[in-house]
Amino acid sequence: MQKKYDIIYADPPWRYDFSQTKQRSIESHYNSMSLDDIKNLDVPAKDDCILILWATAPKIVEAIEVMVAWGFEYKTQAIWDKVIIGMGYWFRGQHEILMVGTKGSMSPPFAVCREGSVFREQRTGHSRKPKCVRQWIDSSFAHLRNKLELFARNKTEGWDVWGNEVECDVKLEVVTPEEHIRRDKKEAEFNAATLAQDAQQLESSDFNDLII
Ligand SMILES: C[S@@+](CC[C@H](N)C(=O)[O-])C[C@H]1O[C@@H](n2cnc3c(N)ncnc32)[C@H](O)[C@@H]1O
Repeated sequence: MQKKYDIIYADPPWRYDFSQTKQRSIESHYNSMSLDDIKNLDVPAKDDCILILWATAPKIVEAIEVMVAWGFEYKTQAIWDKVIIGMGYWFRGQHEILMVGTKGSMSPPFAVCREGSVFREQRTGHSRKPKCVRQWIDSSFAHLRNKLELFARNKTEGWDVWGNEVECDVKLEVVTPEEHIRRDKKEAEFNAATLAQDAQQLESSDFNDLII
């Protein structure tokens, strides 16, 4: 049976619409994924779970779609100030967004762990996320044991990881809504056949067989 998690920390490989050349320059760092494939990932969240999801400024709408598709309700966000200015069409980007969503019953961090909503740490390599955010997660949610990082590049102690650049601790699939319906139908058919078989067995057994 698939292990389920209390916290999911995810940094998806968003696909951008700009020119082939720009897209290729992102793809030279890592492969991107279509929005549908990200949304259809069968994320192994417990019924009560926190999602901490990275989004770039142009991908806020898509990030909320992903959050909802994975079964979470949007709660709030913080930003990461990367200190050094980058590229961009409208603004030259200096920040990324860290969204928080919950599923079921999940409490916010205790008051002592409640940080300001701006994390400030100088960016390092392409798309590398800052250490201070993971430290905040680890200290704020120390009571939650099962933690999964999606689209991870490295293994971090205390975390299970999944991604195409790391040795994965879990196996995840992209499952389309049509495939979900097909699987549910197959399961319902199997259950109906088992019930029918049990009923037939009961009918054909001698009444005395049923008395212990
Ligand atoms: C934005 S980067 C994550 C960066 C990471 N958080 C860090 O701090 O280094 C997205 C990652 O998703 C990976 N990725 C792309 N397509 C994938 C797929 N189909 N399945 C799993 N991982 C994928 C990329 O190779 C890349 O490592």
